[in-house]
Order: sequence, then C-alpha cells, then structure tokens
Amino acid sequence: MADGNDVSREHLAELLNEDLAHESQAIIGYVVYSQVLSGAQYMDIAAQLEIHAKQELDHALIIPRQIDYLGKMPAVTPKPVRTSKDAKEMLRFDLENENDTIRNYRDRVRQCEALGEFAMAEQIRQILVQEQDHQIDLATALGEEVPDVSGGPQGRTPSKRQ
Ligand SMILES: [Fe+2]
Ligand SMILES: [Fe+2]
Repeated sequence: MADGNDVSREHLAELLNEDLAHESQAIIGYVVYSQVLSGAQYMDIAAQLEIHAKQELDHALIIPRQIDYLGKMPAVTPKPVRTSKDAKEMLRFDLENENDTIRNYRDRVRQCEALGEFAMAEQIRQILVQEQDHQIDLATALGEEVPDVSGGPQGRTPSKRQ
C-alpha cells in the first residue's frame, strides 16, 4: 500500500523536477488556452484560465526552491503542451493534466512527510489546494462531476506516460 512513499531525498528531487516540468507545461497551456478560447459560453472559464496561469507561475517558483534545497538543479524543459481547435478538447486536456498533477502532489506530500520534510509537505499542500480549485473550475466548465483521483498511480490517465 505504501506505493512509493519511501523515497530517498535524491529521488524526491527527481520527482519534484518532473512536477516542475508539469508546472511549466501548465503555465504555457493556460496562457495560450485563456487567449484562444472564444464564444460567449466560454467567457467565464477563459477568465478563470488566466487566473490559473498566474497561479501555475506561483507554483513554478515554489518547486525549484525545494529542488535546490535538496541539492539538485531544477529542470528547465516543460512537458509538451497539447493544443486543439476544439474548446471542449482544450478544457479536457487541462482537466486531465490537473488530475495527474493532483495525484502527483498527493504522493509528494506523503513522500515529504515520510522523509520528515514537513515544511516542504506544507508548501506542496498549499499548491494542491489551488490545483483542486483548477480541477473543479474545469470540470464545472465541461459540465461534469469532479473526477475522483484518489485511486493511486494505477488510475493515471495515459497521457502521463510519455
Ligand atoms: Fe500548478
Ligand atoms: Fe493547476
């Protein structure tokens, strides 16, 4: 059950580097999507995506500080950003990314705590609060229930594995 909670500090830094690549992806995605979403029915969510973009930048500033603290160099390459001409599909990409991010950060909080890094766990918890807000905004815009992502790593969407 303790799937991957016992990690070394070195491995935690590597995982945080992957989180950083996701944050960089999220910034770019939200910057672009917020500006290209058009149509009266998407005006509210486009404004929300702009707020998400700024919050993702806040996250992308917090994570490297943790990586540096663990003695590693932060990564500079974002995960690839998927784009679409279709508004719903764009929102779906965002939602899938947020689902993955939430799963990852939930793991990260447990891993930080297993290492006794409680302050780091707290920083990630605060990011997690915002990621869950993003997830709720996107699911609401898509007219869907908020996905339950508590299923652990096996519940990840295929897009995560690339
Ligand atoms: Fe984020
Ligand atoms: Fe997010």
